Amino acid sequence: MIQARGITRTYQTNGAFTGPRTVHALRGVDFTLPAGGAVSFIGESGCGKTTLGKILTGLETFDGGELVVGGVELSRLKPRQRAKYFRRIQLIHQDPYSALNPTRTVEATLGDPLRMRAKETGGDPGAWRERASELLTLVGLEPAAVLPKYPHQLSGGQRQRVVIARALTVDPEVLIADEAVSMIDVSMRLGILGLLRDLRARLGISLVFITHDVATARYVGEGGELHVIYRGEVVERGLTDDVILTPVHPYTQCLLSAVPIMRGLEEPGPDRTAPTRALDERTATPGCLFEPRCPFANEDCSTTHPTLVPLGAASDTPAAAEHLHACLHLEARRVVGVEAEAASA
Ligand SMILES: Nc1ncnc2c1ncn2[C@@H]1O[C@H](COP(=O)(O)OP(=O)(O)OP(=O)(O)O)[C@@H](O)[C@H]1O
Ligand SMILES: [Mg+2]
Repeated sequence: MIQARGITRTYQTNGAFTGPRTVHALRGVDFTLPAGGAVSFIGESGCGKTTLGKILTGLETFDGGELVVGGVELSRLKPRQRAKYFRRIQLIHQDPYSALNPTRTVEATLGDPLRMRAKETGGDPGAWRERASELLTLVGLEPAAVLPKYPHQLSGGQRQRVVIARALTVDPEVLIADEAVSMIDVSMRLGILGLLRDLRARLGISLVFITHDVATARYVGEGGELHVIYRGEVVERGLTDDVILTPVHPYTQCLLSAVPIMRGLEEPGPDRTAPTRALDERTATPGCLFEPRCPFANEDCSTTHPTLVPLGAASDTPAAAEHLHACLHLEARRVVGVEAEAASA
């Protein structure tokens, strides 16, 4: 459904305090999202997750690479034709408070795009009310109770459900969820995550799930791929469970070590690693981007830039051949696995 090849985005900034600066928000991101599949991206703040989400929905441009949607390379198209493809991809962003117009009821919020959609597809424009009810039911809301309400009369979780219903009005093939639950009360998060999972199973919608949280990536992105992104670059990728249960890149291990482990394993043991320093995005290095913070770094890490290579040889299991990492010195240290039982707790 979507193929991204070498997507690169650089920003030139000129801050009053920082002076002119080049920010590499994305450095050659590649991935394939099959129809009905899921790809998750995980990484800390500022690693480029939102930039990627915006590029995939046409809200942001990119300065290198190719984006193929439904078999068509988008940079070859005129802006108007491109917009048609981007309509198939809808973004659900982290703040349901700002995503909805506070002066419009849910009925108005869903009515306009539904009538437009009916016009486009030659459907019955009078049927929008039925379709609105159908969509609200699908996202777990009671239509009669919600339709006349304004956003401020709804809870955060309900608002995010309305945002999802609005995204569904254009019959999208892909949903991009960017930290979709980070601003919602903890008690309602699981419901929204379950809904995203459900939409994939019931409507066959493909999902790009962007998060900084390992547990949600595992829950929503089940069966799909997980890409670990560090300073705009994917440093490890593979099937979600493979990456979470046998993380091989030191950065992935640090990310997973930050997950609290219960059942008497709360003491930091030898398997738990942490970055040696705080993140400094300005450090330019010809070597591995993670080298300044890596607990395992040795000399060549500061001079040679590692690229993604398969963990296993081609003759190994297909999973090992598809589990890629960008670390020069895997062989020099023990590959640490998070205990399956502990990780699923
Ligand atoms: N319009 C812009 N102008 C300049 N720099 C930008 C712009 N948008 C993003 N950046 C920079 O690009 C980098 C990636 O930003 P992005 O918002 O994609 O990160 P993120 O992974 O979504 O972070 P978070 O988890 O905090 O949402 C950051 O260093 C950010 O400062
Ligand atoms: Mg973001």
